[in-house]
Amino acid sequence: MDDRPIGVFDSGFGGLTVARALIDLLPEEQLIYVGDTGRYPYGSKPQEDVRAYSHEITQWLIDTHDVKLVVVACNTASAAALADLQATYDTPIVGVIDAGVRSLLQVSTTNHVGVIGTVGTIGSGAYQSAVAEVDDRVRLTCAACPGFVEFVERGELHSDQVRVLAQRLLSPITDAKVDALLLGCTHYPFLARTIADAVGRDVVLVSSADETAFQVRSMLLDNGGTRVGPHRAPLFLSSGDVDEFARIGAMLLGPELDDVGRWSPTTQNPAGGSDNL
Ligand code: DGL
Repeated sequence: MDDRPIGVFDSGFGGLTVARALIDLLPEEQLIYVGDTGRYPYGSKPQEDVRAYSHEITQWLIDTHDVKLVVVACNTASAAALADLQATYDTPIVGVIDAGVRSLLQVSTTNHVGVIGTVGTIGSGAYQSAVAEVDDRVRLTCAACPGFVEFVERGELHSDQVRVLAQRLLSPITDAKVDALLLGCTHYPFLARTIADAVGRDVVLVSSADETAFQVRSMLLDNGGTRVGPHRAPLFLSSGDVDEFARIGAMLLGPELDDVGRWSPTTQNPAGGSDNL
């Protein structure tokens, strides 16, 4: 049994959907979570910037906390950097894209599915390749949803503005008549009600969080087993405003997020950008 913690990172709050699934499935494992809110959103940034951020956080998790495994709890970072990270570090590294595709194809009965994500994720073609690799007969409709991440980061999950934006951005998905839709950005499960209202209740919404947690558990079991107590509280860190991260993060994740530390990246947000096109 390996007593060391598990590292998890995302551009901000999105990875909390994966952290929630990990805490529920593996309550004895300690998580060290980095939310790179100081440099979010990742979805509108060049892939090489997202790759550099992903390396910086992964290296820090390994060097500072000696993590036994890193979960890239961000689709944009998984698309831009997972293969590179896995080739660089000896520590096992898990992304969310393959887990999402597995979950999506499990629930579809028509083999006509959708994926929504950031501009970076959809533009990378990572989902198009991952789905075709599993089954090239699947009909896949993809849509980028710029702006969704910002609503989640503000804790604004049900406003009229986000509903109007969802209606507009999700119309290609509605028109395509998919039977299952993967929320291919870890922020999006927080908007599930708004997304479901826009695409209709006949479409099954799928998230990668649970399947990612199952994958982590099976990797730990293959490597000597999961941790056995005593309980160690998760550690949450943010490169942005830590008080804001604690306030909105607790609303999104639950009571486990009651304290947030500061994580300082070596580079600042270059564009201070927005995920809007
Ligand atoms: N949670 C990230 C993802 O899954 C959001 C990326 C962003 O910051 O734009 O892609």
